[in-house]
Amino acid sequence: MPRTALVTGGVSGIGSATAVSLKDAGYAVIVNYFGNDAEAEEFHAKTAIPVFNWNVADFEATQAAIGGIVATSGPIEILVNNAGITRDSMLHKMTLDQWRSVIDVDLGGCFNACRAVISSMRERRFGRIGNISSVNALSGQFGQTNYAAAKAGIIGFTKALALEGASRGITANVIAPGYTDTGMVNRLPDETLRGIVENVPAKRLASPEEIARGVLFLVADDSSFINGATLSINGGKYMA
Ligand code: CAA
Repeated sequence: MPRTALVTGGVSGIGSATAVSLKDAGYAVIVNYFGNDAEAEEFHAKTAIPVFNWNVADFEATQAAIGGIVATSGPIEILVNNAGITRDSMLHKMTLDQWRSVIDVDLGGCFNACRAVISSMRERRFGRIGNISSVNALSGQFGQTNYAAAKAGIIGFTKALALEGASRGITANVIAPGYTDTGMVNRLPDETLRGIVENVPAKRLASPEEIARGVLFLVADDSSFINGATLSINGGKYMA
């Protein structure tokens, strides 16, 4: 029986590349998305990967949705917390809503989904959790006090969870992507994006598949002694 993997925010960008790579590697993959039905339908039509719509920032909705998935597809053994948003603004202009929405989706979503799968992973004595952070959690980024806080929070969260799961066959690791060729990055103004790429030693964005490569490595069965690590995949932009 293939292991079942759930990828949040999985119908586009890094999430979709990860879901497809996991499927190609033989996992039974399920993805979560929120809101964009047309994009989800297109992804499903192309990949045949089942898609489920809920807001990862909503604790109750996440418990209910994952409970339903487990009831029909069996326990989730691999969880990739990828769902994330940006609401960039300098702090002196940031609204409470911009702060809260990023913390609630990017960091809260990670808690909500981990909370829904962790008991079963502990009982079954196997689990792989891959949490998507960002280079900007490590380096900081102008205009991203909210996002940098949430993504750095993911790193601390993952290290604590790594300690808790270690004796139960569960690993939790972080992937910290650099600027990647996704909708999130391509929505930046052209001039801003040009400046960013200029500062990447590789002089280009990552492809989503280059990030997925790291996720696959960390969630593999035989990555069993890699726990609490942060894998930077950023073309040399920031070396922690
Ligand atoms: N470093 C230093 N100074 C900067 C700067 C930077 N990176 N960016 C702008 N400034 C300066 C500007 O030159 C300007 O200076 P003056 O007041 O002297 O003219 C001042 O700061 C204000 O800049 P803006 O006019 O741009 O301010 P704004 O309020 O209109 O916009 C912003 C602020 C929304 C944050 C905008 O600068 C922006 O979009 N920046 C890019 C943020 C970014 O890179 N986000 C990443 C999103 S993708 C992602 O997060 C994925 C991932 O994980 C990697």
